[in-house]
Amino acid sequence: MTLSIRPIHPTFAGEATGIDITRPIDADDVAAIETGMDRLAVLVFHDQRLTDEAQRMFTRNFGTLEASPGGNITKLHERRLPLDMQDASNLDRDQKPLARDDRRRMFNLGNRLWHSDSSYRAVPAKYSLLSGRIVVDHGGHTEFADMRAAYDALDATTKADIENLVCEHSLMYSRGSLGFTELTDEERSMFKPVRQRLVRTHPMTGRKSLFLSSHAGTIVGWPIPEARAFLRDLVEHATQPCFVYSHKWRQWDLVMWDNRQTMHRVTRFDETQVRDMRRTTVAGETVTVAQAA
Ligand SMILES: [Fe+2]
Repeated sequence: MTLSIRPIHPTFAGEATGIDITRPIDADDVAAIETGMDRLAVLVFHDQRLTDEAQRMFTRNFGTLEASPGGNITKLHERRLPLDMQDASNLDRDQKPLARDDRRRMFNLGNRLWHSDSSYRAVPAKYSLLSGRIVVDHGGHTEFADMRAAYDALDATTKADIENLVCEHSLMYSRGSLGFTELTDEERSMFKPVRQRLVRTHPMTGRKSLFLSSHAGTIVGWPIPEARAFLRDLVEHATQPCFVYSHKWRQWDLVMWDNRQTMHRVTRFDETQVRDMRRTTVAGETVTVAQAA
């Protein structure tokens, strides 16, 4: 088998074929996937019957697994999966869909908003890898937005205006925008905002992109309503159909994306059905800007 990568959208996203990622892969294939990711930012692999361990093994080819608490209100003892595997399902520990009014479900509804994974961490994520173990028939698509093409399409004045802006990101902001505001003191301190540059440059390609996310709730030095109105304008711009690829899941798809160059969101689905999606995350290597003292 020979790895081949075919673009599936005019500006980004590709489909990788000719590779079995459930087994160890060689250095040439790792390098080809990294190159494909630099160029296309989203790669789809079909028919990969990954176990949790095989998914971890494939993910480790690209860096260190992110495995820190702080990304959810689900308590450690309530988790269905270990800390190095993010649970993107709608299930509890007994493999049953969460009740409509379950606090954990309401928190997870934040994934319906455009975001970049772990942008609320001082060192935001590099790649995310999502495996579709059980998928639903209708909805539950993952939509991606190309934040490089969105940046390129801005006018020169806006590019100059935003060049050095710094935003503050927190899970409090994304959840708060959906009206989920009841947090314990412990959760509030866990969700302490972090700073991120609004324009970031890709370390391999040198391309600039908009580092937006629903977690972004303020711009340092700006009045909050002005910051939020502007961030909303930018998200609206960046998620126009021409910048979006919508992935319709088949069971055993593995989709990996570069959080430094894209945003994503999940679309609505019937949550009485089981949807078991498991994510591994490659930790980022550096902050985008110095943190506040
Ligand atoms: Fe996500």
